[in-house]
Amino acid sequence: MTNRFLDLAAPGLRGLRPYQPGKPIAELEREYGVTDIVKLASNENPLGPSARVLAAIAEAAADLPRYPDANGFELKQALAARHGVPAECVTLGNGSNDVLALLAEGFLQPGAEAVYSRHAFAVYSLVVQATGATHRVAAAHPANHAQPYGHDLDAMAALVGPATRLVFIANPNNPTGTWLDGERLSAFIRALPEHVIAVVDEAYFEYVNAPEYPDASQWVARFPNLVVTRTFSKAYGLAGLRIGYALSGGDIADLLNRIRQPFNTSSIAQAAAVAALQDVDHVARSVELNTTEMERVARACERLGLGVVPSVGNFLLVDMHRPAAPFFEALLQAGVIVRPVANYELPNHLRISIGTEKENGRLITALAGVIDA
Ligand SMILES: Cc1ncc(COP(=O)(O)O)c(C=O)c1O
Repeated sequence: MTNRFLDLAAPGLRGLRPYQPGKPIAELEREYGVTDIVKLASNENPLGPSARVLAAIAEAAADLPRYPDANGFELKQALAARHGVPAECVTLGNGSNDVLALLAEGFLQPGAEAVYSRHAFAVYSLVVQATGATHRVAAAHPANHAQPYGHDLDAMAALVGPATRLVFIANPNNPTGTWLDGERLSAFIRALPEHVIAVVDEAYFEYVNAPEYPDASQWVARFPNLVVTRTFSKAYGLAGLRIGYALSGGDIADLLNRIRQPFNTSSIAQAAAVAALQDVDHVARSVELNTTEMERVARACERLGLGVVPSVGNFLLVDMHRPAAPFFEALLQAGVIVRPVANYELPNHLRISIGTEKENGRLITALAGVIDA
């Protein structure tokens, strides 16, 4: 369908296709008439937030008539203490997606370039395109590499030029679950020219249990051109509240704060995030569940003859060895929502988030059924 205002839109907007989110449970209920649905499509924490966080949310609700603290004082203090950086180095966002968009808005324009990897998280392409800047998409590692479809830092470095302003690195990456070790990643950042900002997206940081996996938040003082993004949407179980943040040197944070909407994070989200940060036990429980269950789902997929990309996130990229769209549809009919990833140029794969033991059991049974059918 043509849009009569297309010619009036900013050039970057004209070719933009909206982000494709995981199918909501209510939509599947409406469209297919199925109930008792299991959603394993958006890499959420199946345990949700802890009781302590829910209590903080209830308490913060008393203040709803008031605007939130535009500077997020308390949350920034808590994050500064957690990461050992000054509070001026923290930029809060309406999810980490918001800070990724702020970075693009702040540092890109037509004529500028941004580098990211093939199969990288879809939002990088969207936020770059919206600014009218040019994408430079690096080839990813091949399917038979130890990090199949993962970021190839040499290929990315080769695309950095005089017009590059941003390089996006997801560690680990979604939808592949692949990751980069500290030595190689820090060497890559160190070698970047001064006019290039490295954005290291650590949305799944808390889940990762791999030797040599770095905490790039500890490098912010060392590299003035580094931005690390984190979120409360994954291991902290707060995806619905929309709260994330960036850590960077004070100069970059200053610029991001100039374009940030003053009230881009709600009072409830700020209060919940402060409480969630304190609830170390809940995160540990969530990670433990994920580690055990990811192993179980991976082995079950392998027993069904499917290929599994080794993942350090809370999701698995599963190779169906044939077009995955019919399996996605058949799983929907069985009341299980997973994520097709053809839009990531992975038409034979499905991305499956790790749920509770019960949810994963449903998935495994449904998967066996649709493969046999
Ligand atoms: C790699 C990566 N970065 C960032 C995000 C954005 O998450 P949020 O905006 O909820 O913080 C996601 C969400 O799926 C992700 O997978």
